[in-house]
Amino acid sequence: MTELGILAIALAVVLGLVIYALITGVAPAPTSPRVAAVMLDMIPPAIDGVIFELGSGWGTLAFPLARRLPGRTVRAVEISPLPWLFSKLRHGVDRLTNLSIRRADFRQVDLGEAALVVCYLFPAAMDGLKAKLEAELKPGAYVLSNTFAVPGWRPEAVRRADDLYATTVYLYRIAEPSAE
Ligand SMILES: C[S@@+](CC[C@H](N)C(=O)[O-])C[C@H]1O[C@@H](n2cnc3c(N)ncnc32)[C@H](O)[C@@H]1O
Repeated sequence: MTELGILAIALAVVLGLVIYALITGVAPAPTSPRVAAVMLDMIPPAIDGVIFELGSGWGTLAFPLARRLPGRTVRAVEISPLPWLFSKLRHGVDRLTNLSIRRADFRQVDLGEAALVVCYLFPAAMDGLKAKLEAELKPGAYVLSNTFAVPGWRPEAVRRADDLYATTVYLYRIAEPSAE
């Protein structure tokens, strides 16, 4: 391949990442290993249902989630083509049968089967996601969020990672309806 060809591919990759970061409002920044370790550690033991990772990027959380919970189905959803393609190729190598990686806008994905929703987004996305979570999640379902809180919700647990930013991780549980 010529130098010009390599340059054209590099430019297309960068442009693809920038365009989708502008569309979604967030770059595909991966969760750091220390934060990922805290998130995995916070997963409640009794997860009975599907795990969704909303905005799965390069698969930094999706693969460890699927490995940690081999008996559970993990559905990763990513809209940006390059991170999605990268994680699909990685999936071809890793072959985790309980993991699926779909290219889609997670706002269009039904979360009715979710027992756990995992995300690392940004404040405006959390605002939008809140209404969807309230409408679709079943009582008892969990939400685990890296850095950004669900506005107005009371977390069941909050932990700080031992990283440079002392990153906060929030765990929420959808309340069971009261007996009244
Ligand atoms: C900060 S990255 C986190 C990636 C991964 N979850 C992790 O923790 O390593 C956020 C990802 O969400 C994706 N995203 C944002 N809005 C989305 C949407 N509406 N549907 C699907 N993916 C979305 C972005 O493309 C980006 O890859």
